[in-house]
Amino acid sequence: MLKIVDEVDPAFRGDVLAGLAELTPAIPARWLYDLRGSELFDAITRLPSYYPTRVETALLEAKMGEIAALAGAGGAIVEFGSGSSTKTPLLLSAMKPRAYVPIDISGDYLRESAARVDAQFPGIPVHPVEADFTKQVVLPAAIDGLPRLGFFPGSTIGNFIPRTATDLLRHFRHILGTGAKLLIGMDRIKPVERLIAAYDDPEGVTAAFNLNILRRINRELEADIPVDAFAHEARWHDMKGRIEMHLVAQCDVAFEIDGQRFAFAKGASIHTENSHKYGPRGARLLLLAGGWTPLAEWTDPAGDFALILAEAQRNRFAP
Ligand code: AVI
Repeated sequence: MLKIVDEVDPAFRGDVLAGLAELTPAIPARWLYDLRGSELFDAITRLPSYYPTRVETALLEAKMGEIAALAGAGGAIVEFGSGSSTKTPLLLSAMKPRAYVPIDISGDYLRESAARVDAQFPGIPVHPVEADFTKQVVLPAAIDGLPRLGFFPGSTIGNFIPRTATDLLRHFRHILGTGAKLLIGMDRIKPVERLIAAYDDPEGVTAAFNLNILRRINRELEADIPVDAFAHEARWHDMKGRIEMHLVAQCDVAFEIDGQRFAFAKGASIHTENSHKYGPRGARLLLLAGGWTPLAEWTDPAGDFALILAEAQRNRFAP
């Protein structure tokens, strides 16, 4: 009998096997986003306790006029990790760019949302690029010569540790070129109780999102992890300024993945995500280290979230 097996990304297998064998077991957060994981993340963005999406959208609505005036009209908007492009219409209505370039790793998702934007803004050419924005990206020739505005909302930069966040910002600078601008969302440091509530909601959606990675391993890597033996935990790491998501063993457990055996004692954890939060100085320093000079910054009245407009200025070595 012919067995049809869905193709498994070899990098997923490699990351899981290597990550779980580490002294502090960890799985890179990007593997949280299979189809179910992406649906659960969408549900998270609508939760009352998960403020970042709501606050950033309101901030864009309130400040779009000012942002557009400073960012400059008539260029190309390049969105990194566009996903469902939910915040894009705000930008496109206010800025009336000459082109919109959504970049996303998920081709189906990308084409669907590009078609939606195309229908809503028939006057703006949409050039979707299917790519992992952390790797090499070739921008469409159609935007050659146009001023460029990179758009990286959602505080996704917080999911990278500072070293890789700096590399990523430098990579964006390389893709967009000197003189380009970048509009980036960054979540602010705030009282721990609010941060924990945002990442451990009473509805249990974030827990389901985190645990889904174990279900994905079972399904795609023919593993037998007893998912119910693990529980979601959100921890604030004060010295690193970040929320960490963990899956904590509730009893001693052992399982096999791809023929390799793993054992976790009760209380041991698998680290699955970091979400760094930045104060005003930290945010500016990160951008400067990544080659972007902050030009302006907007926050909501409570100071929960920041949108920063920065510029890839010519390198100068004087103070
Ligand atoms: C995608 N990213 C910005 C989210 C965050 O807040 O770090 C992912 C997330 N993880 C748990 N809840 C939301």
